[in-house]
Amino acid sequence: MKTFYATTPIYYVNDLPHIGHIYTTVVTDVVTRFRRLSGEPTRFLTGTDEHGQNIEKAAAAQGIPPLALADRVVERYHQLYRTFEIRNDDFIRTTEARHRRGVEALIARIAAAGDFYTAKHEGWYCSSCEAFYTEKELDPEKRCPVHATATAWESEENVFFRLSKYAGPLLEHYERHPEFVRPESRLAEVASFVRGGLNDLSVSRSKVRWGIPFPGHPGHVVYVWLDALANYITALGFGSPEDRFYREFWDHPEAERVHFIGKDILRFHAVYWPAFLLSAGLPLPTTVWAHGWWLRDAKKVSKSVGNVVRPDALVAEFGPDAFRYFLMREMAFGQDASFSDEAFLTRYNADLANDLGNTVSRVAALCRQSFGGTPREVCTDNEIVGAFGDAEAEWRAAMTACQFARALEAVWRLLTAVNGYVVAKEPWKIRKQEGADSARLHRVLSASAEGVRLAAVMLSPFVPFTSRRIFETFGMMAADPTASDLAWGRLPVSAPMPELPALFPRADAAAYFQKETAMTESAASPAPAAPEDDRIAIEDFQRVRLRTAKVLVAERVPKSNKLMRLEVDLGGERRQIVAGIAAQYAPEQLVGRNVVVVANLKPAKLMGVESNGMVLAASVGEAGAPVLLDVPADVPPGSKVK
Ligand code: ME8
Ligand code: MG
Repeated sequence: MKTFYATTPIYYVNDLPHIGHIYTTVVTDVVTRFRRLSGEPTRFLTGTDEHGQNIEKAAAAQGIPPLALADRVVERYHQLYRTFEIRNDDFIRTTEARHRRGVEALIARIAAAGDFYTAKHEGWYCSSCEAFYTEKELDPEKRCPVHATATAWESEENVFFRLSKYAGPLLEHYERHPEFVRPESRLAEVASFVRGGLNDLSVSRSKVRWGIPFPGHPGHVVYVWLDALANYITALGFGSPEDRFYREFWDHPEAERVHFIGKDILRFHAVYWPAFLLSAGLPLPTTVWAHGWWLRDAKKVSKSVGNVVRPDALVAEFGPDAFRYFLMREMAFGQDASFSDEAFLTRYNADLANDLGNTVSRVAALCRQSFGGTPREVCTDNEIVGAFGDAEAEWRAAMTACQFARALEAVWRLLTAVNGYVVAKEPWKIRKQEGADSARLHRVLSASAEGVRLAAVMLSPFVPFTSRRIFETFGMMAADPTASDLAWGRLPVSAPMPELPALFPRADAAAYFQKETAMTESAASPAPAAPEDDRIAIEDFQRVRLRTAKVLVAERVPKSNKLMRLEVDLGGERRQIVAGIAAQYAPEQLVGRNVVVVANLKPAKLMGVESNGMVLAASVGEAGAPVLLDVPADVPPGSKVK
């Protein structure tokens, strides 16, 4: 049986989700909704990438264990997915046991193929990419080509994967399967990289603690990309006795397997991942779809650059569908696109409020005013039938090719046709001349309403909330449509139509910007507001023992930019605490200073140094730079804070 499997990247948990992560997830949601609507067995996977150096560091900087950091960020993803109604079938976390088992099974197969060996590894390392670069890939300052940040010379004994052996087989695969990388231009890019020769890849790390132990190599963890890429099959049950999904959606001749990613991680997906799979003797993905970047001020939106777009304000004001629509309509899939609030508001008013919203409310109002509900007959012989046929064919082809803007344009042509039809037939005149009982009036409005209903079916992968509202408006159930709804003539006859508020009330752009600016300026912290149900009881707070303390000793943790080792006086008791403040504070600024600490925190080891507590600091700006809380000098150490 033909099946369809689509995945997003699994996102790093060292930062909160932003527009880029939402984008790939919405794309995958739209595609899988489309396939489900077409009646195909479909599976949609997303998740989080929780191991590796960056997460280890980010957690240390916040003074919490990596898993606690991951839990927190995963919760944000879940919230976001609820907001946008992302219909993923599964959510994989690389810290799960099922994932670890699958990674071990994959490694066992690669080892059995004789593709691992141990050797010394040296090179320029970008910790944001978690990847080594050759000298010629860097600029004269040895900066990473993706992040433009400094790389570091690293040297260690590692397990290597014989990537070089797979250059030939990969090129052959690209040749025989031009659909392996989309868009086509990117395949040429990948092939030329491989043709340039592949170096063997180091796939274990001994300096990183936070990862899956490398089987047979004590002290080493699995390189985070080998760990991460495996998620696409471990989530299906690869390596476990419960591997039904793996057999249906991956290891099956008719399974279509598509990875949606951003172009930043194309090399990992189109070179490393298929090489691992070739070595393990497993099927390759059908297609790796690498889309472009959302830019702001001509730069990639990214946590490392610090120009992130978080859509909270726009979504609060205009709803999740408006944002989903904007993402899908504005970016030509495969190319870069620019984000701006102005562009958002322009599209909102022109496309959603005007074209879609007005067409729906106009046709609905005509039906309600004429018949108090939907027309009493189905009209099959009219201009809209043909317009729908054309739009549907175009929409289907565009959706299959992941040309979302084109698919939406096809739906918009149908809406334009309905509008033109209404204007030309002048149903209000028919009603005046022939009365509300007129058969002609019923036919004209039936054709118009059916055109709107079908547009809503085709829009359902993009704007699911809105589609359901349109169905409700025309007396149907507010449910997601199925394959059989995509045929002419399914509009219920003589059904009562509720009067619902406008779908997309026109936005006053000037007022929005005024309000936004005021909000941004008055916000004490850019952190998202805690939801209401996050509130705790006083007893919960009392479990946290806060004490004042005086810093006695402060010294940087060797090889760490962020960590400072402190010894503090807790009112007679001497404590060692590691704090992520070394980038902002010098040791001499700290000694003698009074701080507030969490005194009853379980001990944690940060870069090998034990920490027994946490120093409180305000987290300032997008980057969350710590600013220590001050305690007046005359407050004795060890005083209770409550
Ligand atoms: O790379 N525009 O995770 P990540 C468009 N954990 N898409 C963007 C974007 C932007 N400005 N910024 C991010 C990782 N994205 C690894 C992946 S997969 C086995 C491991 C999207 O949190 C886009 O999909 O850095 C990009 O590839 C992904 O987020 C990177 O997310
Ligand atoms: Mg990234």
